Amino acid sequence: MTPNEGTSAAQDLISAFERLTAEFAAEIASLSSEQDMRAVQARYLGKKGKATELMKGLGRLAPADRPAVGESANRARAAIEQAVQSRLHDLAGADLAADLERKIDVTLPGRGRRAGTLHPLTRVRLEIEQIFHGMGFEVRTGPWIETEWNNFDALNTPADHPARDMQDTFYVEGGFILRSHTSPVQIRTMLAGPPPVKIIAPGNVFRRDDDATHTPMFPQCEGLHVDRNVSFEDLKATLIAFVQRFFGPDTQIRLRPSFFPFTEPSAEVDASCFLCEGKQPARSTCRLCKGTGWLEIGGSGMVHPNVLAAVGYDKYDVTGFAFGMGLSRMAMLKYGVSDLRLFYENDLRFLRQFPTS
Ligand code: PHE
Repeated sequence: MTPNEGTSAAQDLISAFERLTAEFAAEIASLSSEQDMRAVQARYLGKKGKATELMKGLGRLAPADRPAVGESANRARAAIEQAVQSRLHDLAGADLAADLERKIDVTLPGRGRRAGTLHPLTRVRLEIEQIFHGMGFEVRTGPWIETEWNNFDALNTPADHPARDMQDTFYVEGGFILRSHTSPVQIRTMLAGPPPVKIIAPGNVFRRDDDATHTPMFPQCEGLHVDRNVSFEDLKATLIAFVQRFFGPDTQIRLRPSFFPFTEPSAEVDASCFLCEGKQPARSTCRLCKGTGWLEIGGSGMVHPNVLAAVGYDKYDVTGFAFGMGLSRMAMLKYGVSDLRLFYENDLRFLRQFPTS
């Protein structure tokens, strides 16, 4: 080997390191993530990288030529690292410039997250369920689409009863209807097993009504207790216990004779007004009871023997009471809401007034 040959081999290596540096710079120019750049960097400087491969040529050089080549290898390594740093620096600068361009005001207060609340009708339903649960009633539910038999016939409401008129009930295809009360859940429960039965049936019901005080769909809660020796007195005691827990411990009830096909005798249930407490002179200006001292809350009665017979119960052995109330009406009374439609408009300004405790 002549010194010249040795020098030219060294020169080749030095040029190769220079080309490598240029090649690297070109390759990372299009990359915009540090991760990608580091991967490329490993292909050059890693254990099996291009620079390492070139270094293997070092051993074949004359000892005198090695320092110059080694130096060029170090320069290449340093240049490659420097190229990555400067590209990252440029990218960070571009990000900052883009942020500033978007005019983000980092001093604005955060938006925060609001916790949701239960809908007032849900709150009322849960509260009613809890009160009756405490008196030994189980919660039962049933389908919205019902048979006429479950909704009417079994409830002693014959085909010519006015409630079965097209005016009041929504008829669906196939001879089914949208249930007009949750009483069919009582029927389903009694058909499913022998007495005793002690249930409440909350759920949506449907009637062909639509005005300020009626919506075509509304939630209801009915109750049923059938056993030996269940009396009207039990009905009254249950209703009193309920209103005292729901409206307040001094609440009284008033039962007014009424008529329902499925109960006999039947009574409308009024609760004494918890706002004016029925006391004069407050009562005369009370916006809740409108001066009557009483709030109508629902219907009730002793289960008609025909209903017991329809579900196969022995009408001479067991008796029962039943009651029903509209949940929207209960919520209106309890929270002093004057327009029923507010419950269905989903206006957050209204709903946020009922924080979930
Ligand atoms: N089912 C009746 C209604 O929806 C309410 C009710 C239930 C009345 C039980 C008496 C007894 O109007």
